Amino acid sequence: MQYRAAKGMNDILPDELRRWRTLEEAFRRTVELAGYAEIRTPLLEPTELFVRSVGESTDIVQKEMFTLLHHGDSLTLRPEGTASAARAYVEHTVFAREPVTRWYYLGPMFRAERPQRGRYRQFYQAGAEIFGDPGPACDAEMIDMLYRLFVGLGITDVEVVVNSLGSAGVRERYREVLREHLEPNKGELSEASQRRLGDNPLRILDSKAPRDQELVREAPPILDFLDDADRAHWDALRAGLDALGVPYRAEPRLVRGLDYYTRTLFEFQSSQGGLGSQNALGGGGRYDGMVADLGGPAAPAIGFALGLERILLAMNPSDDAKPSPCFIAPIGERATLEALVLARSLRDRGVPTDLDGRGTSMKSMLRRANSRGARLAVLIGDQELDRGVFKVKDLAAHTEIDVPCAAAAEQISELMARAPLEPAH
Ligand code: HAM
Repeated sequence: MQYRAAKGMNDILPDELRRWRTLEEAFRRTVELAGYAEIRTPLLEPTELFVRSVGESTDIVQKEMFTLLHHGDSLTLRPEGTASAARAYVEHTVFAREPVTRWYYLGPMFRAERPQRGRYRQFYQAGAEIFGDPGPACDAEMIDMLYRLFVGLGITDVEVVVNSLGSAGVRERYREVLREHLEPNKGELSEASQRRLGDNPLRILDSKAPRDQELVREAPPILDFLDDADRAHWDALRAGLDALGVPYRAEPRLVRGLDYYTRTLFEFQSSQGGLGSQNALGGGGRYDGMVADLGGPAAPAIGFALGLERILLAMNPSDDAKPSPCFIAPIGERATLEALVLARSLRDRGVPTDLDGRGTSMKSMLRRANSRGARLAVLIGDQELDRGVFKVKDLAAHTEIDVPCAAAAEQISELMARAPLEPAH
């Protein structure tokens, strides 16, 4: 029996992981500069939390949750991070300690979707949430921060799409407008959209079916239904983006798949990476009602999440620098003991060091040093030890020198910091 990872769930092997780390570090740097602090929440939450916040009629709640029953409790592997962050914000009464809270998180999310390129059942998000700030300045600040992050990662074709859904009342009213507009042609809608017409007509706006799109195009845009306060918020958001020089497209049909959004909504799309319909690298929006809904005060909130797999597919694979280690190749028992001590001293000095303890031939150890991309190889054999030296080879420059054993760690760490070596004489 050969075991395989579960459908839609992937191993990330060390070669790929380097790129993940580069991306995660760029993300951390970006958000920490903007005052966000990291939180970690459980992977499992009470199912009811997601039903309540993400919304009963969403695809996530209706068919994508991994749910398990444990001693009568229904628990769900988190399909996203916002509900957990809001739950933690309320549970720990963070609102009583500070007027504005900025949190970020990185980690796996789980949705039982049909897997395809850029869409998995376990996938990783980097996200952030702001609680207590009604915007719209922080909305523009957040979108600008992400736009610059994407461009900095080399995703220069990223498109920023924004919309406003208005406050909760506007959504309710618009739902009716849309229902009335689509009802006469109900029979022409796709099967999924016919179902959504009853419980969640807004989702028909981002249906991919061509006839649905045609019918929706003729519907009045949600922006026509904003009240004065919502319109002022939307106008100020765009003024903020203009002041920051963020190029964006206002798209009144952008709705996104979660029910909690109010007012500002945004998505980052890219055609790099051959992602097809999975071209949303990340998105987010305002959810001013969730904290109160979960039993907290009436705290406004906004946030986003980025899909790390999709960003990695869109990023240029060549910006992937492997660290070049120092490679230690001992022959014989005495040499191996010296090598153990030298490797530890080099690592203490912060030098990445590989030690080949297999006891094979020098030739095969040097082959491995080259395939590891080593800068220097330290050759240790009885002959060298009798002379009180180690032989240090620069694998790129094809030069070598002897260094005295007693000062080897110090000298080699200096050599690792500069290249190439002067030829021996
Ligand atoms: P979302 O749009 O559902 O929003 O997910 C955010 C991003 O996660 C997507 O744009 C996509 O890049 C990635 N993603 C989603 N599903 C998958 C999947 N099955 N496979 C691979 N990548 C995927 C949220 O999750 C909200 N919590 C964002 C938010 C935060 N809104 C307010 N605060």
